[in-house]
Amino acid sequence: MKRDNIRSDVEWQSIRLNPIDAGLVLDVGGGSEGLVSRIAGDRVCAVDIKFSKVVEARIYEPGSNWFVSDAQYLPFGDNLFDMATFWFSLMFMREDSIKKRAFQEAFRVLQEGGLLHIMASTIDRNEDPFFFRAVFTLPDETLSKIGYGVRGGQEQTLEHIAKLVSDVGFDIDSTRNHGSWFIIKAKHPVQ
Ligand SMILES: C[S@@+](CC[C@H](N)C(=O)[O-])C[C@H]1O[C@@H](n2cnc3c(N)ncnc32)[C@H](O)[C@@H]1O
Repeated sequence: MKRDNIRSDVEWQSIRLNPIDAGLVLDVGGGSEGLVSRIAGDRVCAVDIKFSKVVEARIYEPGSNWFVSDAQYLPFGDNLFDMATFWFSLMFMREDSIKKRAFQEAFRVLQEGGLLHIMASTIDRNEDPFFFRAVFTLPDETLSKIGYGVRGGQEQTLEHIAKLVSDVGFDIDSTRNHGSWFIIKAKHPVQ
């Protein structure tokens, strides 16, 4: 991505993160700032496809368990986790087929009743590359200031991602649209 071509006029988002109560948590694309790891520590298995992003997150010494792995092929057995998080990682899985495959894997490794929690930036199919900028406030009031370089040309709206999540078999619990980003909470159904 050429830096000259990146739109940089996107407003800073202020995002407060709540404590995570669920037991065992899978954090998909969990490297870089390692937000979920820093909140839920040794209850987290964090997966990232890039070793360098795992190394970055480990600077915070969050005590979580780290796996260098593709979200499409998780190195875990079935029905293990109580929660799976995708916090601003979906935008780096640009193709719908990758996003869908990652959701299928999350579905497989979650227990019945397990939670899926997605935070993602809104990307219009025709949008140029841009920065998504946010200041996260962790539950202990630590601030984490981040700018993610995001490529356009993908369909990542709340409605579109909610449909992918439903197609995989999750029940949508709630959604919230913040304009430039959104939240989807869903559940692995209990048979
Ligand atoms: C914005 S960054 C990390 C955000 C992170 N959740 C945090 O708390 O800071 C998104 C991450 O997703 C990872 N990623 C992209 N594609 C992936 C895939 N197929 N499987 C696993 N991780 C992936 C990237 O390597 C990158 O570290």
